[in-house]
This record gives sequence, C-alpha cells and structure tokens, in this order.
Amino acid sequence: MKANWLDANERTGQEIEAATLDVQGVMYKVLDTDPAEYREPLDTIKRVQGYIQEDQIELTPNTPNLDEICAKFVDEHYHDEDEVRFVLDGEGIFDIRSKDDRWMRVVVETGDLIIVPAGRHHRFTLTEKKTIRCMRLFKDPSGWVAHYRQ
Ligand SMILES: [Fe+2]
Repeated sequence: MKANWLDANERTGQEIEAATLDVQGVMYKVLDTDPAEYREPLDTIKRVQGYIQEDQIELTPNTPNLDEICAKFVDEHYHDEDEVRFVLDGEGIFDIRSKDDRWMRVVVETGDLIIVPAGRHHRFTLTEKKTIRCMRLFKDPSGWVAHYRQ
C-alpha cells in the first residue's frame, strides 16, 4: 500500500501513513494471500464487522467490456455498505475522501485489505497493468449500489 494526499489539482502530495487512514475511518491490513494463511484472520474480520458473504472478482486486459466495467467505478460515489477489497493479485487505485473532503489516494497491491466505510465517497481505477483479482466481502450485496456524487 502506498497512500498520498492529492492537492486541489489532484497532484500527488504528502504521504499518508496507515495510522492516518485509521483515523480517517479507512481500515487497512496486510494479509498473506495463501488461503491457508488468510482464512482465519479474514474470518475474524468477517465476524467482527458482520460480513456474511464473499466472492472474487477479476479484471484483466482480456476481460470483456473492461472499459465499461471500469467506467462504473471511476466517478465519485458512495455505498450504503462498506466496500471491502482484499487484493489477491494485481493492483488498483482507490481515491477516498477524508472526513474533511480531501482526496486520499491509496494504491493497493497484492496482500492489501482495505475497507472504505459505508457512506464515504470514493472512486477506483486500475493501474497501467489493468489487472486485479480481489475478494469482496459483504453484509448484504444488495447494499452495494453506487450513489454517484451530484
Ligand atoms: Fe465503490
């Protein structure tokens, strides 16, 4: 994980430490990507946070309609449910609003688990590699609907 503030012109600025993400309500953890290693800590997170469903999503340059799929994430939005992503392979860029509405850019990579809290505006893009495989955790998948910022 690498996190930085974005300035008003969305240029990368000062580095953000994991402790600051925590203060901002964004949970961040590193887990081993071996299922034998991550299952127990992941189940603890599910139990504590109340996530009852999980699935996996993969995006690669070969994914049909990749641009259309990515277009759904690129504009600023929030969900009524936490957005939980555990990166099993690849990388991606989360821009997440701080509590005072500044952008925090969080580049996630293999082994990173991030929780964007419900109601918090954010957006997501792939890196140049256009490859990510993630586990997603849900309380209720129907809550994972994007509300786009007006
Ligand atoms: Fe989202």
